[in-house]
Amino acid sequence: MNLRLGVLVSGSGSNLQSIIDASEKGFIKSKVCVVISNIPGVYALERAKKHNIPAIVINHKYFKTREDFDRAIVNKLREYNTDLVIMAGFLRIITNVLLDAYPMKIMNIHPALLPSFPGLHVQKKALEYGCKFAGCTVHFADSGVDTGPIIIQGVVPILDNDTEETLSKRILSVEHKIYPQAIKLYEENRLKIIGRRVIVDPPLSPEESIFLTNPMIEK
Ligand code: GRF
Repeated sequence: MNLRLGVLVSGSGSNLQSIIDASEKGFIKSKVCVVISNIPGVYALERAKKHNIPAIVINHKYFKTREDFDRAIVNKLREYNTDLVIMAGFLRIITNVLLDAYPMKIMNIHPALLPSFPGLHVQKKALEYGCKFAGCTVHFADSGVDTGPIIIQGVVPILDNDTEETLSKRILSVEHKIYPQAIKLYEENRLKIIGRRVIVDPPLSPEESIFLTNPMIEK
């Protein structure tokens, strides 16, 4: 089904860009109908404007409570008839006001293999921990922080000469692949939530997807 996506951003918007690109090239049928940032002047807003997508600032500083802020977000999402909410680099903790308005209809992306490394600066934490793999996770939002049912994850190696920057860049390139894939599975109604688990039904076939590959897939 062709969904109307409402994308919440706070910064660069590279995940927003990957979703816009996936929509424009037909990988997903859904369309970004509105982009809302809690911070004015971020590049994500410019990305939206370049694609003639309404780009709106709802500054969290102007609200007394998180709930009041979320109410304003919900009202704007509804104004644009949003079907699915995409948090893409959105740095606010959401409340039940938003969760209740869009139950299991809010996705988030996190640059780590949850449940490992929730929170911030997670690429650095994985590197310093001495992990051999890192990655990213798209999950449904719930009332916790980075704790909702996991939809899809992508894995990248951590190399001995990695820095926080080189690792973050490698993870980000996989984020840009798994977020559109998560939306595609959702719009095809192939995500079945059973307790904490999100099952793809019918499952992706090897012919249908690029799985872990050896040698690696060149960009
Ligand atoms: C990404 O690593 C994302 O996982 C995190 O914020 C970073 C920036 O995202 N939530 P974007 O470039 O603003 O989409």
